[in-house]
Amino acid sequence: MSDRFRRYGDIYRAVIYGANVYVSRDPQHAEHVLRENWQCYTKGLFSKRVAILLGNGLMSSEGTLWKNQRRMIQPAFHRNVVAGLTKVIASSNRSLLKKWKEAALQHIQVNVTRDISSMILEVTLAAIFGNDYQQVAEHFNVLSEEPTRDLKFAQAFRSLQKIVFLIAAERRKKNPESNDLLSKLMTARDLSGQPMRDPQLVNEIKTLIVAGHETTASTLNWVWYLLSRNPEAQDRLWEEVDERTPGDATDLDRLDEYPFAREVIEETMRLFPPGWLVTRKALSDDQLGEFFVPAGTEIYIPLYFIQRNPKLWEDPDRFDPDRFTPERSKNRHPFAMLPFSAGPRRCIGESLARVEMLMHVVTIAKGLRLRFVGRAPELDPAVNLRNKHDFLMEPEVRSEPAADLISECQACIDRPSAGHPSGD
Ligand code: HEM
Repeated sequence: MSDRFRRYGDIYRAVIYGANVYVSRDPQHAEHVLRENWQCYTKGLFSKRVAILLGNGLMSSEGTLWKNQRRMIQPAFHRNVVAGLTKVIASSNRSLLKKWKEAALQHIQVNVTRDISSMILEVTLAAIFGNDYQQVAEHFNVLSEEPTRDLKFAQAFRSLQKIVFLIAAERRKKNPESNDLLSKLMTARDLSGQPMRDPQLVNEIKTLIVAGHETTASTLNWVWYLLSRNPEAQDRLWEEVDERTPGDATDLDRLDEYPFAREVIEETMRLFPPGWLVTRKALSDDQLGEFFVPAGTEIYIPLYFIQRNPKLWEDPDRFDPDRFTPERSKNRHPFAMLPFSAGPRRCIGESLARVEMLMHVVTIAKGLRLRFVGRAPELDPAVNLRNKHDFLMEPEVRSEPAADLISECQACIDRPSAGHPSGD
């Protein structure tokens, strides 16, 4: 795509997997297809791959089914629900920080990809299943342990639906009301007052697990890689987190006090948007600027290339979080930056993802420096944009390591004069 855009400009035609396709990195085309004339389009071939894995959940459903489901699921991502999840997010990040600090003290490298994947999976499952988290956790480990999303994986993942059926049935016997996403979905009613049927509920839960896990985890991997490569930005992030007290980050309102951390995340999603390619298929004839679009044509909207389009971004491949200061964002085309897509089918989990990412960055930056030591990244542009290799990093404790660790060791608190049991 990179080569073709260089040769032909912002839009070109191609035959991809036997379909006629327009590939465009023009934000006006994205605006037209995703928002202005969205009803003229369905999701296209790319989402069929997603449907094999996730069934007919929100990501791949169409028409009335999608509309009803979106209406029913939207309230589960209300600010109050997300605010109720911050304790879980904080606790998972504290455990991760502790693990990485211990590794730092022993001068051991950490596998950032694997550890962040497990942490985000824990957060996602706890957000969905609440108090039933322990009962489901071990069944879903396959998601962070197995990176390939092939048919074999789809089969293994499908077999996990039994556990969701089981939990839903148990909850129905008791009172299903609680602040987790499963409960919100079970108590939702459509316009005729009907709840979601179990098979649909299972598809939606599977969709939320996969959509919420890989995207968020992938962004956070790139955050640490880019910061490690840009020490100046890393220093500025530290300055910002050092000025705040550690408890701040569990209060949603106070997350606004970390503007630079937010800009770092934004710039990371610009350079490496996890959902790097959004596709649609025209249901009827349409016009894309000066180009005629016959019914059946697919439109590929590669967010990766819109967000690196040199007409929209100065020095587009450079990591520069200050692009997202309010002053520099002022005159930008609203569709120049759309990591969560746009229009009625934009990401439903955006608010949760933003809170998860900001809390993670702030918590880890407060305690650690991560130094990238692995193989140079190679892009793997599958459904999500990931690195072909796991990110390996050397963690370095930033502040008073000994005091931090000792305060967490019960043996040292109980018998301070005896010293730590290992003799350290
Ligand atoms: C950094 C994190 C995330 C990014 C970059 C992201 C990106 C996206 C994008 C680009 C789409 C639209 C695809 C299209 O238009 O074809 C989308 C849709 C969706 N996302 Fe996310 N997402 C993220 C996190 C989450 C989370 C945390 C959840 C839920 C727990 C979630 C659930 C969904 C669902 C259900 C859809 C389908 C919405 C619909 O079609 O109505 N995502 N996401």
